[in-house]
Amino acid sequence: MSPTVYISRDSGALSLGAEAVATAVTAEAGKHDQNVRLVRTGSRGMYWLEPLLEVETSEGRIGYGPVSPSDVPGLFESRFLEAGSHPLGHGLTESIPYLKSQERLTFSRVGVIDPLSLEDYLASDGYQGLKNALTLSGEQIVKDLTESGLRGRGGAGFPTGIKWKTALDTPSEQKYVVCNADEGDSGTFSDRMVMEGDPFVLIEGMTIAGLAINATRGYIYVRSEYPHAYRILNQAIEKAYGSHYLGEDLRGSGRTFHLEVRRGAGSYICGEETALLESLEGKRGMIRYRPPLPAVSGLFGKPTILNNVISLASVPVIFSKGSAFDKNFGVGRSRGTLPFQLSGNIKRGGLVEKAFGITLRELLYDFGGGSSTGRPIRAVQVGGPLGAYLPESQFDTPLDYEAFAKIRALLGHGGAVVFDDTVDMARMARFAMEFCALESCGKCTPCRIGSTRGVEVIDKVIQNLNRDDNLQLLGDLCDLMLNGSLCGLGGLIPYPVLSALRHFPEDFGVADVSKLNLP
Ligand SMILES: Cc1cc2nc3c(=O)[nH]c(=O)nc-3n(C[C@H](O)[C@H](O)[C@H](O)COP(=O)(O)O)c2cc1C
Ligand code: SF4
Repeated sequence: MSPTVYISRDSGALSLGAEAVATAVTAEAGKHDQNVRLVRTGSRGMYWLEPLLEVETSEGRIGYGPVSPSDVPGLFESRFLEAGSHPLGHGLTESIPYLKSQERLTFSRVGVIDPLSLEDYLASDGYQGLKNALTLSGEQIVKDLTESGLRGRGGAGFPTGIKWKTALDTPSEQKYVVCNADEGDSGTFSDRMVMEGDPFVLIEGMTIAGLAINATRGYIYVRSEYPHAYRILNQAIEKAYGSHYLGEDLRGSGRTFHLEVRRGAGSYICGEETALLESLEGKRGMIRYRPPLPAVSGLFGKPTILNNVISLASVPVIFSKGSAFDKNFGVGRSRGTLPFQLSGNIKRGGLVEKAFGITLRELLYDFGGGSSTGRPIRAVQVGGPLGAYLPESQFDTPLDYEAFAKIRALLGHGGAVVFDDTVDMARMARFAMEFCALESCGKCTPCRIGSTRGVEVIDKVIQNLNRDDNLQLLGDLCDLMLNGSLCGLGGLIPYPVLSALRHFPEDFGVADVSKLNLP
């Protein structure tokens, strides 16, 4: 039998040269008259080892990485196809500590299976959740989901069961399921990894959501910067239709669920759920007033379940393993796992799926290995561009929604962007305000005008022009934006600004931050 070699086709791996490595392996195998079965997978999420090349052995897969095309002849000489030793070898991939110490529930298949093989998906517990859900009433599905304690992974941590129940209880001939795959937060890539590495799990989760509220149509709103995810999702959807996992009469059940992919409009605000719905309807991405909530009046004014990719991809396991399964992981009201994403100035950047409750320090050092420059880590922005900057003194905070809220920070979509001690935090605060000014949808004054004034005020602070007065003005402006903005963009941008000022006052030329009356 031909040896099997696995190389990722995930766009992160491709950007690091995975395609050239795959071509080199095929060419070198030809030179050696060696048949090789090449399987293209998603990524294991260890981007510091990509392009990662894995070989199937009786013990499991042996990993080599990061491999460049020029390493390939040497790998053949070292008989890597028979697990021969080579300086790039890491032994069994699953035993690499970075992967071994994770709790991969949502990402169990990512990097392992061929994302477009329905056979691979079915052989690894795929569609077990749908099979079980097809035997349940909508009420029972919502009840089981509520019992699992699942909270939305898109940022706000809102209980998914409550959202689904609201949509279930709102009578309507037509209802929708919408997946938010806009993934606009800086330093986040878990949605993309699932869509490229295990698209059927998202399709299955959305189908179960459709069954729950009797929605016959769903849309995946994918950011335009994700062409690979767009292509893979469309191919997977076609396969699912071909095998009656989508369409009319799902697996002979008499139930219907249609699914389509839509490209995003390329703006950060289109990730906010009401702006996303506007954009999906073909309009400019502007925030809608709430109420009504999308679960009551969403897409085209109909009751709509709108969830993030990871939230929906977390659903199948709840219905295949039972609602108690997820509850065994996590702390307090943050149950289950979160795929954390490490990026920025970090030695081992990548995806770490762990139960809520792990500390930032464990994530940064045990997994991340410290900064890539070798300098001390000074600040970490958790939760995307609206998240707070955390100083070293807060690295022991457990990563859970409530613990983060207590320190006026956000867990968001689980992205952590790392900075060493060369960072200038006043510049980062300015960058946050500038980002808000650029991305503001313009509907409310505190954000539209406030963000531009905020940039000007921070510039004056940096230039030491009337510094004390301008710092007080900045505090007042942040207070107004926090309390007066219509949505989370203007309402949360004070988090990075104020945390930078509060924890790193020296970068603003402030000796004693307690003298400032900050909100
Ligand atoms: C400015 C802004 C941008 C957002 N961007 C995203 C995004 O890119 N992806 C996402 O899933 N949620 C995003 N959200 C959160 C969504 O509005 C919404 O809460 C989420 O999609 C609901 O899904 P969930 O309950 O499964 O988390 C954003 C929110 C705000 C205020
Ligand atoms: S806070 Fe900003 S993005 Fe949100 S509605 Fe107001 S102007 Fe639009």
